[in-house]
Amino acid sequence: MANSIIKHVSIIMDGNGRWAKERNMPRSYGHRKGIDAVKKIINASLVRQISTLTLFAFSSENWIRPTNEVKLLMTLFRESILNNMESLHENNIRVAFIGDLSKFDRALKKYIHTLEELTKHNTGLELNFAVNYGGKWDIINAVNQAIGTKSHSNEIYINKNDIEQNLSFYKNHPDLMIRTAGEHRLSNFMLWQHAYTELYFTDTLWPDFDEEKFDDAIKFFHNKTRKFGGLKSVKQIEQNDK
Ligand code: IPE
Ligand code: IPE
Ligand code: MG
Repeated sequence: MANSIIKHVSIIMDGNGRWAKERNMPRSYGHRKGIDAVKKIINASLVRQISTLTLFAFSSENWIRPTNEVKLLMTLFRESILNNMESLHENNIRVAFIGDLSKFDRALKKYIHTLEELTKHNTGLELNFAVNYGGKWDIINAVNQAIGTKSHSNEIYINKNDIEQNLSFYKNHPDLMIRTAGEHRLSNFMLWQHAYTELYFTDTLWPDFDEEKFDDAIKFFHNKTRKFGGLKSVKQIEQNDK
């Protein structure tokens, strides 16, 4: 029974390297194919009227990969922003990048800033790219920012709201998290925000993930009963409140 509307989907896009390996191709080929899957899922989210899509593109731990691979990923980020800026804007998508952007080179930071500025007043899909993102970084950053705002007041304790308001994405936490490529772990992705998210794992490698597979994940979500620690489903709670 569908008991809750799906507003925010987060995705750990994993398996580009394995997809390429299966085809005896270099890992770079898998990353390039992965971009096509990103476009498919952005379009699918628009059609399905999902309000927020958060895509994990590069973790704070991914820097330890070989330099060539890291360099290629940075080039792909730049190319993808440049090639898709107009169509993202035309589709009324608001794009934001979450993560520690200070580590990126000047050119990439400029592209990121340009795309965010261009699309910031758009009212359609809210599209977040998590880059150089780590859930632990996000929480530590939020705590430090909260301490900063409290430094002039007598109240020194940090509460839940202080942290939530300073997280890199705080408006609505993901309802459904999808991870492709068979691993059942969070790999440091939105540790706070995923506290009550429905988790969906599929063996499909990211470049093979498409609209149909996206619908399988959505179907999984709609078969779940979300209780958030209570005894009633969210739908029951909403109905009883009327
Ligand atoms: C996900 O695919 C993309 C990034 C982490 C940037 P991987 O590159 O992790 O692919 P596998 O896990 O090696 O197959
Ligand atoms: C998670 O994938 C990060 C992204 C998809 C961006 P990884 O491939 O880096 O995760 P692990 O190393 O398998 O946990
Ligand atoms: Mg991986």
